[in-house]
Amino acid sequence: MRRIIHVSLIAPLLVPASVVTAEWIGEIKKEGNTTYYCKCYSDHSCYPTKAEWKAFNETIEGRLQPAIPPGAVCHNHLGNISTFDAAACTEYKAHFNDEQYLTDHNVAALWPLYTNNTCLPTENAEDPCTQGFYGTYVILATKKDHIKKGVDFARERNLRLIIRNTGHDFLGRSTGYESLIINTHGFKDVQFTKSYNGPGNWTGSAAVVGAGVQGRELFRHAFQQNPKQVIVGGECPTVGWAGGYIQGGGHGPLSSIYGMGADNVLSFEAITAKGEYVTANADENPDLFWALKGGGPASFAVVTSITVKTFPEIPSAGTILNINSTHTNDTKLFNKGFQIFHNLSNHYTAHGMFVYFELSLGSLHVAPFVGPRMDESKLNEVLKPLFDQLDAEKVPYSRYTKAFPSFFELYMDLFEDEAFAVQGSSTVGGRIFTQKDIAVNGDKIAEALLFASQPTPDSVGLSVGHIVNPGYGVPVADNAINDKWRNSSSFTLTNLLMSGQESWPQKLEIERINTDVVGKALREAGPDGAAYVNEGDLNEPDWQYTYWGAKYSRLLQIRKKWDPEGVFYAKTTPGTEDWSVLDTGTKLCKRARG
Ligand SMILES: Cc1cc2nc3c(=O)[nH]c(=O)nc-3n(C[C@H](O)[C@H](O)[C@H](O)COP(=O)(O)OP(=O)(O)OC[C@H]3O[C@@H](n4cnc5c(N)ncnc54)[C@H](O)[C@@H]3O)c2cc1C
Ligand SMILES: *[C@@H]1O[C@H](CO)[C@@H](O)[C@H](O)[C@H]1NC(C)=O
Ligand SMILES: *[C@@H]1O[C@H](CO)[C@@H](O)[C@H](O)[C@H]1NC(C)=O
Ligand SMILES: *[C@@H]1O[C@H](CO)[C@@H](O)[C@H](O)[C@H]1NC(C)=O
Ligand SMILES: *[C@@H]1O[C@H](CO)[C@@H](O)[C@H](O)[C@H]1NC(C)=O
Ligand SMILES: *[C@@H]1O[C@H](CO)[C@@H](O)[C@H](O)[C@H]1NC(C)=O
Ligand SMILES: *[C@@H]1O[C@H](CO)[C@@H](O)[C@H](O)[C@H]1NC(C)=O
Ligand SMILES: *[C@@H]1O[C@H](CO)[C@@H](O)[C@H](O)[C@H]1NC(C)=O
Ligand SMILES: *[C@@H]1O[C@H](CO)[C@@H](O)[C@H](O)[C@H]1NC(C)=O
Ligand SMILES: *[C@@H]1O[C@H](CO)[C@@H](O)[C@H](O)[C@H]1NC(C)=O
Repeated sequence: MRRIIHVSLIAPLLVPASVVTAEWIGEIKKEGNTTYYCKCYSDHSCYPTKAEWKAFNETIEGRLQPAIPPGAVCHNHLGNISTFDAAACTEYKAHFNDEQYLTDHNVAALWPLYTNNTCLPTENAEDPCTQGFYGTYVILATKKDHIKKGVDFARERNLRLIIRNTGHDFLGRSTGYESLIINTHGFKDVQFTKSYNGPGNWTGSAAVVGAGVQGRELFRHAFQQNPKQVIVGGECPTVGWAGGYIQGGGHGPLSSIYGMGADNVLSFEAITAKGEYVTANADENPDLFWALKGGGPASFAVVTSITVKTFPEIPSAGTILNINSTHTNDTKLFNKGFQIFHNLSNHYTAHGMFVYFELSLGSLHVAPFVGPRMDESKLNEVLKPLFDQLDAEKVPYSRYTKAFPSFFELYMDLFEDEAFAVQGSSTVGGRIFTQKDIAVNGDKIAEALLFASQPTPDSVGLSVGHIVNPGYGVPVADNAINDKWRNSSSFTLTNLLMSGQESWPQKLEIERINTDVVGKALREAGPDGAAYVNEGDLNEPDWQYTYWGAKYSRLLQIRKKWDPEGVFYAKTTPGTEDWSVLDTGTKLCKRARG
């Protein structure tokens, strides 16, 4: 390893000797009175030369590729690489909103905002395509050794490292300026067993799931078993399962009866920041086992596979409900309808239900209410108070209920592929509202969510709600998941929609509205609540406590033990307090202490 100290902007003597370690390679920056140590970027002598990248590529069997943004095929050039390809461009334009197409891509980030809106589809091939906040190189890993070598190279050369599974992250944590990306999408193996006999007390059925397996893909594998199985996963078909989802905790349509996704994990196979292969379960590395279950993505290790409990399939019933401009344009009446619907959150969860909804100005789309182990008449009976109240208040709506022999068939029929995800970008926030807050502040919470649809005259909001209580009827597992989830009633994520044309100061203003206007309303309406690291505000005040509660201090210790140098980075995850992305979203740097 080369040891280079490159000093810019300041004279070396101003850096306190105690913080300059002989190991440091990278830029030392000064902003105001604060000194920062940055990762190694291409404008620095410490950055690997072409020859060094080539030699590295040979150590990973040629799996290294330049990180080419998906839109580059519609532009003549990316830097000095010719990228235009008419057929590929037509295909890309046809799939610009297609989540599966984008998750299959080497580096695509589904939310253009976090790529600096760079290299979007265009009719004019002369429009410049730049790298933006995409990485520089990507390892298309097919073996664990490729991942290990990538982690080692990034650590030794002090490069920004990104683990990318699907590129779905709402908070842009699977893309990073000039990073080395490790793509885990190729790890698609799934193996089922009828009787698990590893560490822990579980002797039932289980599955070993590769890091690259996606939600619907996993559900389908489970459904093909004999007898048919289910696994707790998210509602989105293309979100990964073993990556960000489990490491953030993971809620889903079966969480009210089987807990959070991470509650059901029996064992992890992973590669640490030091490049070591580890197993983490009840017997081996139990601290890492605890932290990987909900302690935050890209924080403790790169997960390569997970062993998880599976459960027998169950009959399920679902209802779709719409209230929108085909029913009424009367805002008061619409708002009343939403209040009645949302105020019953404790009632739905008391029946083990999960409810997914989308709320925007004048439109409520509930798709669906999920009644696990229910048939049509049972679900209608549970939802009777809702329809009685809507009828009593003369709120018009349309509804549709259907029963299915299995959860999987319900999932395939009633859940929709989201398309809004990639149409534009948005700034995200959200809040977990507890059973207590719904009981005490139900109306105020509904008002705050309605407010989030248009918090200022110029802004457009879209909320995505998940009414779920992962503490209902299941013993609470010991892991890093915030205890507040165990008392949750409704978890809603909010979006402030963006056009993609915003200037940097305009983006900062939207972030401010997101945190100080929308976020403030949510926090005030749900004082007993918390927030969810995977679907939350990157500027959440007091994020350590809000995302993890009293568990944060233990997570911080575990992070320091397993990743003392900061090889991994995702904003608002344990131990990242001293790190910031400086220079308008580009360089990742650590603040010097002392
Ligand atoms: C449309 C949509 C629907 C969603 N629905 C749900 C839902 O129902 N329930 C829910 O809980 N969440 C849901 N989410 C949030 C989802 O859990 C997070 O976006 C999650 O981070 C996605 O993980 P990923 O691995 O697919 O994505 P990526 O963007 O590839 O990665 C996300 C983060 O995980 C890290 N990571 C990925 N793989 C690994 C690995 N193998 N080891 C270590 N770190 C890794 C990445 O570095 C990054 O920080 C949804 C998100 C979207 C966009
Ligand atoms: C920097 O430190 C000096 C001396 O302690 C202080 O006077 C000054 O206000 C500080 N500047 C900033 C930007 O914090
Ligand atoms: C890595 O090596 C492979 C196989 O030789 C080659 O196809 C690929 O272009 C190389 N990657 C880079 C970034 O040069
Ligand atoms: C392409 O540009 C890079 C730097 O941007 C430079 O190092 C390289 O030599 C160029 N290659 C060619 C073929 O011009
Ligand atoms: C990000 O976008 C802004 C505005 O379009 C531009 O000024 C800036 O140079 C871009 N940064 C990078 C690294 O592409
Ligand atoms: C297994 O069960 C025993 C007895 O109930 C309990 O003490 C122990 O903590 C359990 N172990 C795990 C890993 O859950
Ligand atoms: C609401 O307004 C739209 C647009 O003017 C109109 O098409 C629709 O019919 C109206 N809905 C009702 C219920 O009147
Ligand atoms: C919401 O519930 C609270 C308490 O349970 C009740 O006081 C209030 O009237 C309800 N509001 C609506 C719109 O149903
Ligand atoms: C409004 O509800 C109807 C069902 O009554 C549905 O067909 C339509 O797609 C909904 N419109 C919107 C904009 O969601
Ligand atoms: C959950 O609610 C129960 C009953 O209201 C309460 O006893 C418990 O302390 C709550 N737990 C958390 C983590 O808030």
